[in-house]
Amino acid sequence: MKNKRQLLKIRIYGDKTLNKVAEPVKEITPEIQEFIQNLTHTMYIKNGIGLAAPQVGISLRIYVVDPFWYKEGKKKNPYIFINPEFLEFEGESTAEEGCLSLPDIFEKVSRAEKVVITAMNENGKKITLEAEGIFARVLQHEFDHLGGILFVEKISKLRQVFIKKKLRELAKSTDENGENIQRIED
Ligand code: NI
Repeated sequence: MKNKRQLLKIRIYGDKTLNKVAEPVKEITPEIQEFIQNLTHTMYIKNGIGLAAPQVGISLRIYVVDPFWYKEGKKKNPYIFINPEFLEFEGESTAEEGCLSLPDIFEKVSRAEKVVITAMNENGKKITLEAEGIFARVLQHEFDHLGGILFVEKISKLRQVFIKKKLRELAKSTDENGENIQRIED
């Protein structure tokens, strides 16, 4: 069979989809499954460890994460989360985060150290898993995307002031399709 995976366009800060609360997935159709394949493919091509549907302009409660693939010899092991919900949070930790929708911005964000999450996978099977450290962090970061929240909204007020200009410039160079007209990509 022909490889039909597509590279999806990443929406950059300033795009409205990034600020919207995403809709739950009602049914896992073949179209949704194909979308998930493309979302996963795009995450790997862009060297991400997580990617949420709103980041490619699709306002649905879906994300993919693979927090370790880049460090572990590029062995791919994607986890798909559809309609995820957190069941538990524990502890707190602070670490630097980045986001494919916020190029060149890295800031420290405080999050729960451990989480328990439940979701559906791409086959409609209910999954529940416990995660900690970077895995827990990326799950929380991607979950925020489903609520229209970007990590720069979670940093200290002082740092928010500090990066305001950078954000304004990013938004200014993002066109109505969420594409950054100053960046040459793909
Ligand atoms: Ni992100």
